Formats: sequence, C-alpha cells, structure tokens
Amino acid sequence: MHAPAATAVHARQLLGQVSQFLQHPVPPALERALHTVPRHLFLPDRIWRGDGQGGYHLCERTADPGRWLEAAYTDVSLVTQFTDGLPTSAASMPSMVLRTLQLAGLHALSRPLRVAEMGTATGFNAALLCALLGDRAVTTIELDTALAELGERNLQAAGYTPKVVRGDAAQGWQPNAPYDLILATFSVDRLPPAWQAQSAPGGRIITPWNSAWCCYGTLALTSHHDGSATGRFHPFAAYMPMRRPHPGLVITPGPAPADHSSPVAGTSRLSPWAVAGGDLDAEFHLGLAVPGASFSWNTTGDHAPVRLEVADNTGPSWATVDYDGHRGDRFSVAQSGPRRLWDEITVAYDRWETLGRPSVDQHGMTVDAAGTHSPWVEAAGRRHTVRAGPGQG
Ligand SMILES: C[S@@+](CC[C@H](N)C(=O)[O-])C[C@H]1O[C@@H](n2cnc3c(N)ncnc32)[C@H](O)[C@@H]1O
Repeated sequence: MHAPAATAVHARQLLGQVSQFLQHPVPPALERALHTVPRHLFLPDRIWRGDGQGGYHLCERTADPGRWLEAAYTDVSLVTQFTDGLPTSAASMPSMVLRTLQLAGLHALSRPLRVAEMGTATGFNAALLCALLGDRAVTTIELDTALAELGERNLQAAGYTPKVVRGDAAQGWQPNAPYDLILATFSVDRLPPAWQAQSAPGGRIITPWNSAWCCYGTLALTSHHDGSATGRFHPFAAYMPMRRPHPGLVITPGPAPADHSSPVAGTSRLSPWAVAGGDLDAEFHLGLAVPGASFSWNTTGDHAPVRLEVADNTGPSWATVDYDGHRGDRFSVAQSGPRRLWDEITVAYDRWETLGRPSVDQHGMTVDAAGTHSPWVEAAGRRHTVRAGPGQG
C-alpha cells in the first residue's frame, strides 16, 4: 500500500475549516506554514477520531487510506495513543494549534526567537514552529521516549531538525534557555518553576490550563525581570493534562480516600446544574476558586434520581447534592471531612454572580518569583482576587 499523497487541495480544505472555526482568515505566515508542513506525514497508521459522545473510532491507514487521509486534513484532534484506556497522546486540533501560534504572535515576528515546545508527540506543531522560525530556534520536549523517537523521525522525514529532548517538560531544558516563548501542548494546573526560571524577561509562557473542576482555557503569561509572570486566560482549548514521569505515566491523581465519618446533612438552593452543567465561565471560575474540588454525575438512581458527587483531590472530604426528581429550587446535601466542599462551591458561585458572571477571558494569573499563584478576575473596571472558599484561609 502506498502512502497517500496529500495535495494542495487537502491543505486548502484544512485551512478553510480552520478559518471557519476561528471565524477569521488565517494570518498569511501561518497559512504558509500550514501549506509547507503536510500533517499526514506526522500521523501514525492507527489514529482515533472522537465520536462526539466521549468515545473514539479507530481509523487505520492500511485498512482505509482514503478515510485516514481525510481525517489528517480535517480540523479535529486525533488520538495517537491510549494508556490504560485513557488517551495519552494526540495530534492536536489544527485550529487550536494555529490559534495558539497566533496568540504567541508568531505570525508577526520581527526578531529571532528561541522557543521551547512542551509535548512533542507527533512533531507536527514543532514542524510548524521550525517552518516559522527556523530549526535552530526550536527545542521540543517529550516525556514518552517512544513518542519522542517517533516525533523526531517524523520531523526528519519532513525535513526538520529541531532539538528533540527526551525528558520531563516540567524540568524544561536548561542548555537552550532562556526562551522567548515556552509553549505547552498539554494542560497544567500550576506553572512548573523551571518554565519561569527558563523564560527570558519579556518572554511569553503559553499553556493550556486545567483545574480539578474544569479542564479548559489557555493561559498566556509574560515574564518579568523580577522572576514573576502575569497574564490572562483565553477562552479556548481543552488539552490532556501533563503526565508525571513515573512508570505508569498516570495522568492526574484521583480523589484521595474518602472520609467515612458521619456526614453533615443540609439543604441547598444552589442547583448542581448551575455549577457543573456545562457553563464554562462558571466552571472555570470555580476551578480557580475551589482548588482540588472535582465532580462527577451519578444518574444510576441508586441514591436519588440525580446526584452530583463532589470529591477533594487533595484530601478525604466529599459532598453529595441530590435532586429528588421534582424540586428545582431545593436540593439535599451531605458533606464530610475537613473541607465543606459544597459550602466552598456555594460561596465561590455567589461571588462569581456578584461580580457579574465574568467570562473566562476576564480571569488571569500572577505567579510571583517564589512560585505563589494568585488568580484574579477583572470585573466592573477593577481587578479582584479570586478568593478561596471558607476553610482554606
Ligand atoms: C496533545 S499531545 C501534543 C501534541 C503535539 N504537540 C503535536 O503537535 O502533535 C501532548 C503530549 O505531551 C506529552 N507530555 C505530557 N506530559 C509531559 C511531560 N511532563 N513532559 C513531556 N511531555 C509530556 C504527552 O506524552 C503527549 O505526547
């Protein structure tokens, strides 16, 4: 079976979809890069496309080369590896890749840059960076050795030779620092200190974000001479979380063992759907305001027609909020452990409403030289601290 050849038609098809998704034309420099770097050269024979319902369809090049090539030039992310049933590597959605490059200002360059990309995977994004900046400007880091080798082979086959580092991107890569741009292609819930240390003053750090409550948004920071960094969140992208360097390559720690002492019962007027029903602005705010809290829906009907289960990823606390199938203005709550998670959520949600329901891009983060993270939100012409709930000081 011959490898399918991509044509300018394929690249144009992809560009059309990307600009439609972004609702503006792709800047010329990025358009040229997308024409220069054929995406299919970076994809393995087996790729998985999302089915829109949380599942995936396998697409194999040998079995169906036409469908495989079509997927390569469609504006979708393509999973390239699963570990223990969870996706652990992917070729990112092209419109998200381009939007991030645009946010980084790479389409309007006036001086040479040094860039560190975190998460090489297929090498496609690293190739775009090479096409924009030249190979010598680009360092790319991948934790998974097999993926790093594959990514490097893909890059070489396409004619690019950036520095490919096999290692933990949380440590950065000191030999090529300082970087004008650090660009992560996985999400973090804290800025790794090495990124701050290896960022040039005035340099940018751009990274997808996640909290235990909400995996969404892209943080674009500028580094300052005093070692601090500050910047705002942008309302796009949900990337897989950073992996930790140990044998299982587990994605994120799950909730800690639950507290088994008797829960405190109560009622709440706050609807669980208001905080966990898909309002990204609210959920994003809660993720910053109530660190460590995560949720899942229980619709088995075992305890209530619908139950929201809230867990603490940093300790044993938990809460449940039950809908009885009738009353939408009163919910039964149980809370256990040192944190009163539902109380924290309620306080944070009330504050979000009082601030005028700020959107994701009204939020930002300042990380001082010691690594202390201070999230903030701009509302009514002022910057406010995103406060922790009760029980967190
Ligand atoms: C969404 S993929 C990146 C897509 C990639 N930039 C491309 O163009 O195909 C995320 C990648 O980050 C890698 N990764 C996750 N945690 C990492 C870490 N701590 N250090 C280095 N790489 C990591 C994963 O193994 C995965 O390959």
